[in-house]
Amino acid sequence: MSNLGQVLEEKIRTGQARLGTVGLGYVGLPLSVEFASAGLRVTGFDLSPEKVAAVNRGESYIKDVTSERVGALVEAGGLRATSDFDELAECDAVIICVPTPLSKTKDPDLTMVVEATRQIGERLRPGQLVVLESTTYPGTTEELILPILSGRGLDVGESFFLAFSPERVDPGNAKYGTRNTPKIIGGMTPACTRMALALYSKAIDTVIPVSSTQTAEMVKLLENTFRSVNIGLVNEVALMCERLGVDVWEVIDAAASKPFGFMPFYPGPGLGGHCIPIDPLYLSWKLKTLNYRARFIELAGEINSEMPEHVCDRVARALNDREKSVKGSRILILGVSYKRDVDDVRESPALDILRILESRGAKIAYNDPHVPELQWNGTVLRSEELMPAVRRADIVVIVTDHTAFPYREIVDGAAVVLDTRNATRGIRAASVIKI
Ligand SMILES: NC(=O)c1ccc[n+]([C@@H]2O[C@H](COP(=O)([O-])OP(=O)(O)OC[C@H]3O[C@@H](n4cnc5c(N)ncnc54)[C@H](O)[C@@H]3O)[C@@H](O)[C@H]2O)c1
Repeated sequence: MSNLGQVLEEKIRTGQARLGTVGLGYVGLPLSVEFASAGLRVTGFDLSPEKVAAVNRGESYIKDVTSERVGALVEAGGLRATSDFDELAECDAVIICVPTPLSKTKDPDLTMVVEATRQIGERLRPGQLVVLESTTYPGTTEELILPILSGRGLDVGESFFLAFSPERVDPGNAKYGTRNTPKIIGGMTPACTRMALALYSKAIDTVIPVSSTQTAEMVKLLENTFRSVNIGLVNEVALMCERLGVDVWEVIDAAASKPFGFMPFYPGPGLGGHCIPIDPLYLSWKLKTLNYRARFIELAGEINSEMPEHVCDRVARALNDREKSVKGSRILILGVSYKRDVDDVRESPALDILRILESRGAKIAYNDPHVPELQWNGTVLRSEELMPAVRRADIVVIVTDHTAFPYREIVDGAAVVLDTRNATRGIRAASVIKI
């Protein structure tokens, strides 16, 4: 190993290393807090002045991280944030966790990753470690990141180190957080893997090396494609059960009693969040460039993205049975975040459902204890007071099964409930319809 590698490893081992995290969002802030708690001095970089100021005031804007924790670390000097990218030069290791969305044409949009890498590349100095955590297609680290970082003539694996380590955070998960979720690490060279392992071992309980950056990139896409395909399968099973007159929830619960060879997935109103609806498309896009069609991904995507439309058709049928039309009916959506007990509305199927129902002339309203207001067609929708809104509505649609909802009271107060998550399990009432 090069002398630079030995120096870096020693700095990490003794806790002298300074870490930079680029992108202080759902991934970057918890990660920064974990590393700072492990004793490294962490500087978070973000373009958003609001996020930088919040961190420096000791305030968290991410639900899974408490302000007490951020405040204590900031006060002790272990954590700070800045928008001044010149400070990147002072970091021994830099982790990139900026968004990787899709473009309008549903192709990977890596502009933010490229921009963050360019900021690092312009200041790269010998002995630095750079790790990409943003979810992306296999080949990104080698084909896109490496050329930008190599621009200053430094050799990877010798004078600087580069690795990919996929983020696996599951917002709202009370059992698994950043520290106790095992971390996969793939370096450009064995020395790169070794540096990244040394770094992550400081803050993560279990670190697992793989043979290349491509492997590490593919691991993440397998995990999320696995979820997308299985959810697609179970959504199709729900559509089949509806035609068969069988309760899909009962079927899944009974199948899940098998102690081997079966893993329960549940149907719902559609996919949401920054990961499952998007990541598999990064993989299928990459495969298209290699003349291969990722058929499972396409099919699951098709079924999952049709679920909001299916929910709206069920709403129309339920209203029709009560001699009402969607047009003019008051429809209350319960839960607009993409999953239970989180405040994130990115890609949430509730937004599609609200849009479809509104376009059909419904008077829409919502309640979500985690999302007090929602940007809506250039205006702001506000979360209505729950029970009066339930009683006013012609139909209540449970889109996200937040723990805080009083389901018994909702069922008793509503004219009819369409439950897309089996949140009313155990409550027997003729007014409840399930998908
Ligand atoms: N949120 C999740 O649950 C989750 C889970 C696993 C993986 N991921 C992946 O992690 C990555 C980050 O996702 P996220 O949810 O944390 O995104 P986010 O939108 O919450 O945060 C990203 C942050 O990066 C900042 N940013 C954008 N460009 C920047 C730049 N050039 N320099 C500095 N800061 C910049 C933004 O201002 C924002 O604060 C994505 O690739 C995502 O797919 C997310």
